[in-house]
Amino acid sequence: MTKTILRALAGETLPVPPIWMMRQAGRYLPEYRATRAKAGDFLSLCYNPELAAEVTLQPLRRYGFDAAILFADILLVPQALGADLWFVTGEGPRLSTITGAEGVAALKPADAIHDRLAPIYETVRILSRELPADTTLIGFAGAPWTVATYMIAGRGTPDQGPAHALKDGDRATFEALLDRITAATIEYLSAQIEAGAEVVKLFDSWAGSLKGADFDRYALAPAKRIITELKARHPNVPIIAFPREAGPRYEGFAKATGADCVALDNSVDPTWAAAHVQVDGCVQGNLASRHMVTGGQDLVDETRAIVKAFSGGPHIVNLGHGITPDADPENVALMVETVRSGATG
Ligand code: CP3
Repeated sequence: MTKTILRALAGETLPVPPIWMMRQAGRYLPEYRATRAKAGDFLSLCYNPELAAEVTLQPLRRYGFDAAILFADILLVPQALGADLWFVTGEGPRLSTITGAEGVAALKPADAIHDRLAPIYETVRILSRELPADTTLIGFAGAPWTVATYMIAGRGTPDQGPAHALKDGDRATFEALLDRITAATIEYLSAQIEAGAEVVKLFDSWAGSLKGADFDRYALAPAKRIITELKARHPNVPIIAFPREAGPRYEGFAKATGADCVALDNSVDPTWAAAHVQVDGCVQGNLASRHMVTGGQDLVDETRAIVKAFSGGPHIVNLGHGITPDADPENVALMVETVRSGATG
């Protein structure tokens, strides 16, 4: 029996779509908070294979999701390339910044990342042994543009201003940085697959701030390069691309990059996406995360509406972005039950 997520990714329309949730292992779960406290801080948790595997498994025990996503972070790649990385509680990530050519020259080569990332591959190995037989293991990395926005600014930014400034002011340095991240991402995802990841996902959280030719060059082209190389090395491993907030550029993205599935954010209308994106293959999404906070009949109605809109083709139910720390675990249970009870009202 092929696993449901793999069937959907192969283009099969299933009577009950498979489900998982971005950030399903996270602070909304008391058992996650307890394990994180045991690890010390977030990065120590990421680099502790036993505990990282434990938090990956926690949401599966509660909800029986169809997939587990490796517990790690997209910013471990910059750290493995030589950037300093730390997390400020309540604020988010901080990194040493890259402001010019010297910053890129000081980075390690792409194939030097594995020593630092070895514990992550160990987490994948533990998970591939311990996961329930019908659960798919998803590995991931950040897409080059999104990772570059953090490396350039040294933190999350509302409009990715510093990254746009480097791109427009010193294109050669910007492109050298993107190139290095792209090469490292290929090595990182390939190693995750060799350790047991069955699917990989590329998170381009800030793709929506690239317009026109910049979107083609810095969101689409790097995704295509990563996917083409991974497909050459691992032809049977499906790839999910998440060009968040790409709007109309979601149309044709799977075909242009070779992705097996695109993940849709909340701003995408499901009826539009069924006609313009799902025609090319599997889609993932796109329930608003706020329903996991507010719950009730709205959650049930929205979940049914999304399942119904995508019922004519391959679909993986997910949120449009990560679940937030203020979500109620009971609401997640209600969402899963709504999908699995099959009624689209
Ligand atoms: O989805 C999962 O459960 C898998 C693990 C995962 C994490 N981060 C764990 C995490 C994944 C896939 C990510 C991706 C990630 N990380 C992205 C892309 C997706 C997105 O959300 O847009 C980005 C931009 C990051 C960088 C990052 N990591 C930020 C900006 C923050 C701080 C914001 C926040 O939510 O606190 C993190 C921290 C982080 N990564 C947490 C988790 C569970 C919270 C850390 C904690 O326990 O305090």
